[in-house]
Amino acid sequence: MPAIIEIIQTDLTTLAVDAIVNAANNTLLGGGGVDGAIHRAAGPQLVQECAGLGGCETGDAKITGGYKLPTKHVIHTVGPVWQDGNHGEPGLLESAYRRCFEVAHQHGLKSIAFPAVSAGVYGYPMRKAAIIALETAQMTVRLYPELERIIFVQFSEGAQKVYEETAAQLGIEYR
Ligand code: AR6
Repeated sequence: MPAIIEIIQTDLTTLAVDAIVNAANNTLLGGGGVDGAIHRAAGPQLVQECAGLGGCETGDAKITGGYKLPTKHVIHTVGPVWQDGNHGEPGLLESAYRRCFEVAHQHGLKSIAFPAVSAGVYGYPMRKAAIIALETAQMTVRLYPELERIIFVQFSEGAQKVYEETAAQLGIEYR
C-alpha cells in the first residue's frame, strides 16, 4: 500500500506522528516561524541536542528527539532563501524534502508531517514550493513502502487552498 498523502490545516506542533519536520536555519539553534514554535513546545532539551549536531547545510536534514512535543522525532531541514528562482532554489528545496524522507527511512519511520519549508520567512512562493513538496512526496511513496502517512501541514487557509489546488493540478491523490 503506498503512503497516503494528507493536506491539512493545523498547528504542526500538535501532531502525534513519528516525525514532524522543522523549517530550520543553518545553525539549528532555533529562530522564528515554525522553528520557534517547535522549540517553544519541545522545551530546552531540543536546542541542547541540536547544539551537538554541528549545524545543517541548506538542502540537508538531521534528526533529533521530540522531547515535550507529541511527535517522536523532529527532522530539521534547511530550505533555501528565495532570491529569484535562478540561484538553485528549486534544487535545494527538492533536496531538503528528499533528505527528510531519506532520514525518515533510515530510522524506519512510518509517518512524517511537513510545514511549507522555505515558504515563510525565506520567501519561497507558496505555489512553487507546493509543487516541489508534492512531487517529491509522490516519488518517495514508491521508494519507501514502509511510509504510511505523509502529511502536509498548512498554517493558513490560503496555503491550504494552494496545496489542495496544486495536488489536483498534478493529479496527486490526497485526503
Ligand atoms: N504549524 C504549521 N505551519 C507553520 C507554523 C506552525 N506552528 N508556524 C509557521 N508555519 P517559516 P522558512 C508556516 O518562516 O520560510 C525561522 O526563523 C508558515 O506560515 O517557519 O523555511 C528559521 O529559524 C509558513 O507557511 O520557515 C529560519 O531562519 C511555513 O510554516 C527561517 O525561519 C514556513 O515558514 C526559515 O524560514
